[in-house]
Amino acid sequence: MQRTQILQTKDMVGETVELFGWVATRRDHGKIIFIDLRDRSGIAQVVFVPQQGDMYATAEKLRPEWVVRIKGLVKARPEKMVNADIPTGKVEIEPQELEVLNEALTPPFALDTDGYEIGEENRMKYRYLDLRRPRLAGNLVIRHKLITFIRNWLDKKEFVEVETPILTKSTPEGARDYVVPSRLYAGKFYALPQSPQQYKQLLMAAGVEKYFQIARCFRDEDTRGDRQPEFTQLDLEMSFVAREDVMALNEVLLIDMIKTVFPEKRIQEIPFPRLTHKEAIEKYQTDRPDLRKDKDDKDLLALCWIIDFPFFEKADELGDSWTFTHNPFSAPKPEAMADLLDKKNIGEILTTQYDVVLNGWEIGGGSIRNHQAEALQAVFEIMGFEKSRIESNFGHMLEAFRLGTPPHGGIAWGLDRIIALLRNEPNIREVIAFPKTGDARDLMMDGPSEISAKQLEELHLKVEKSKG
Ligand code: AMO
Repeated sequence: MQRTQILQTKDMVGETVELFGWVATRRDHGKIIFIDLRDRSGIAQVVFVPQQGDMYATAEKLRPEWVVRIKGLVKARPEKMVNADIPTGKVEIEPQELEVLNEALTPPFALDTDGYEIGEENRMKYRYLDLRRPRLAGNLVIRHKLITFIRNWLDKKEFVEVETPILTKSTPEGARDYVVPSRLYAGKFYALPQSPQQYKQLLMAAGVEKYFQIARCFRDEDTRGDRQPEFTQLDLEMSFVAREDVMALNEVLLIDMIKTVFPEKRIQEIPFPRLTHKEAIEKYQTDRPDLRKDKDDKDLLALCWIIDFPFFEKADELGDSWTFTHNPFSAPKPEAMADLLDKKNIGEILTTQYDVVLNGWEIGGGSIRNHQAEALQAVFEIMGFEKSRIESNFGHMLEAFRLGTPPHGGIAWGLDRIIALLRNEPNIREVIAFPKTGDARDLMMDGPSEISAKQLEELHLKVEKSKG
């Protein structure tokens, strides 16, 4: 016999089915035992009565989260027993066979609630149990559907997904790097990518023209509701484009994706309104304004673009040193290129950077890049880097630019944030299978952890424990 998914039983009255799943709940009504059986697709009610003999005796032992196989007849529920709240609420199963596939200890927390009420420590330690919760299981499925939609959409537009290295070199993206010690080169370290920024630009140098990647990024910064130490971007880059081309493509992709994967959602305004950075700050005191006209509507999406950011800001209050506001690889707006090359009016140079904001969260950002070596060099000179440091840190980029790199630009979306917002989740942790805790730990695997003396020695490392 073939396994039937529980959800299918809603249309199978009169048929015999074989179901596999977990005991979600057990209720005893006098001598009758009701079991809610759960699989990935839904919940089925199974009714055990004393006349069933040995099978009934086994049913008496069942406890939550036991794994079972049940063969039985799908029957219509008596009128007064119908449950309108679940898709299988009009049917129940009259069992013919019951087999226990695995018993379970009492779970450390309830799985038939939405789970928000349970402490993080417990949920993360037993994340595989937490993920049995229909809310979280649903988040994983929708995440898959959304990523599949994006992949297919971009494939049709002739984008190529290319994987870029995870063991790479420290890059200046504004956050702290996670580093990996090298065994072969004592005292040297790889860095995990904060984003594939340089690789995707080098893919443009390589003639790929239209690149994307569902890319894992690593940043050693404080964890918050919208921030994890490792997170996922839709990373994208195109050659021979201007700012408008990248923004237009992304706007259409966002709209198509929302309409297909989240048809219940309503986009407040299309085309997405655009605000300059200056307007946003003056009007909303933030560069990620929440433009929703009705904040009680859980299905309302207010998307907007923020453009015309200043390229540089003062690196500190006193000095006259500068740093980039977004991305050192960005090109200035075309009319500011002369000032960049001359290193004049630095505070007034605007970048081609565009951010996309959804309901007050920054969900993506990108820019047109400098593709000529002199321009990139000027950026680092403005930031006060010595020629030798520019060559040692970015020599590979400058060299690529001198070997026929086409004009190019791109964007990256924070996929975890987008999925959390579309699922009305308060925290991106809820849409990541195995996230880190607020203090950057993996409680289930117990990471980070110490490594053996032998490993330390191979890696040429000595650990000094700080006192106190
Ligand atoms: P940026 O640093 O703005 O740009 O990152 C792009 C988007 O990624 C999301 N994001 C995060 N999500 C979860 N946890 C984090 N710690 C985190 N940090 C960022 C945000 C953000 O908008 N290489 C450039 C993109 C480009 O210019 O093409 C970049 O990484 O939603």
